[in-house]
Amino acid sequence: MALALDDDVKALADQMTQDRRDFHMYPELGFEETRTAARIAKALRAAGIDEIQTGVAKTGVVALIRGRIPGKTILLRADIDALPVAERNDVPYRSRNPGVMHACGHDAHAAMLLAVARILHARRADFDGVVKLVFQPAEEGPGGALPMIHEGVLENPHVDAALALHVWNLLPVGQIGLKAGPIMANTDEFSLTIRGRGGHGAMPHLSVDAVTAAAQVVSALQSVVSRQVSPMDSAVLTIGTIHGGERHNVIAHEVTMTGTVRSFSPEVGMALPGMIERIVRGVTSAMSAEYELEYHRVYPATLNDPLATEVVRHAAAKVVGLENVIDAEASMGGEDMAFFLQKVPGCFFFLGSANPAKGLTNPHHHPAFDLDEEALPIGVQVLVQAAMDMLAS
Ligand code: NI
Repeated sequence: MALALDDDVKALADQMTQDRRDFHMYPELGFEETRTAARIAKALRAAGIDEIQTGVAKTGVVALIRGRIPGKTILLRADIDALPVAERNDVPYRSRNPGVMHACGHDAHAAMLLAVARILHARRADFDGVVKLVFQPAEEGPGGALPMIHEGVLENPHVDAALALHVWNLLPVGQIGLKAGPIMANTDEFSLTIRGRGGHGAMPHLSVDAVTAAAQVVSALQSVVSRQVSPMDSAVLTIGTIHGGERHNVIAHEVTMTGTVRSFSPEVGMALPGMIERIVRGVTSAMSAEYELEYHRVYPATLNDPLATEVVRHAAAKVVGLENVIDAEASMGGEDMAFFLQKVPGCFFFLGSANPAKGLTNPHHHPAFDLDEEALPIGVQVLVQAAMDMLAS
């Protein structure tokens, strides 16, 4: 791999690995990242950074690095939370917190942003403007970006653009994936209760069968994506759970189900709840059943600004070579970086972190997820380069 890494980035590679492994050993769930946040704040102070805010959206940490003279402000964001997954990796840095694991690589994000902080603080005489480092809690849920924005993270100083990366095991280490426009999906969830009238399994005419009604609803809901969303747009509607009935010869009184709804375009995202409710209302009514639908918007689609994406593309090309900067396929996963990018232009991109030769290919959220730590200096170099290019533009 021919990489263009600055000496100060190379010099921090071991530190990044140590930091990442420490975060990995002590993973914490969303809004419980107290140890993680304390360690981040301590490392920032040790690096000589004195403008540090802790307890932002409970467990978030924000730090400012001011360049020579005032100018633009670029926000760099790392999420820091882990998942309720029991780790199955047999590595020295395996999770010490039972049932909790950095199974998405946010440990690497935190470690990389710490390295970026050390580098930019040391180079602060070389740029104008401000770099705002945001260590964000609870990306995996219930979401830390929005409360951070409500607490003013995009002001004082006002943020002009925002960047974030995600280690990505769908790409090999040494590659960067990105695209303008939607890169992560709008993710919603719903719960639906269908109520009939229970009765004897041999006397259906005296009951309203919630199971039959639910079966019709499940089938009809599949026509939302296939018949109502334009074939040029993407959407997913998955019913993940369905529960109903108590006994083989009793007509079920009630069926409950939950599902997830995903899309990319904001217009489709806005229209989907109405399409879903119309079908649920019509089918249950035809079956003499009743329904209760709760629809929750979780994260909007993550939309990359075309100009910011070009800046990152050029920055990445300087580091890994143009042939290793690829047009990423958008993911139907959700990402609350979306909330930052609703407010300010920016780019969320993928840092290749798989390495088949080392057996590091498990997907994100897998109990044996792990990443190639060679990716860390690459991510740091791209973030530093892109931030400097944005400040200078
Ligand atoms: Ni993640």
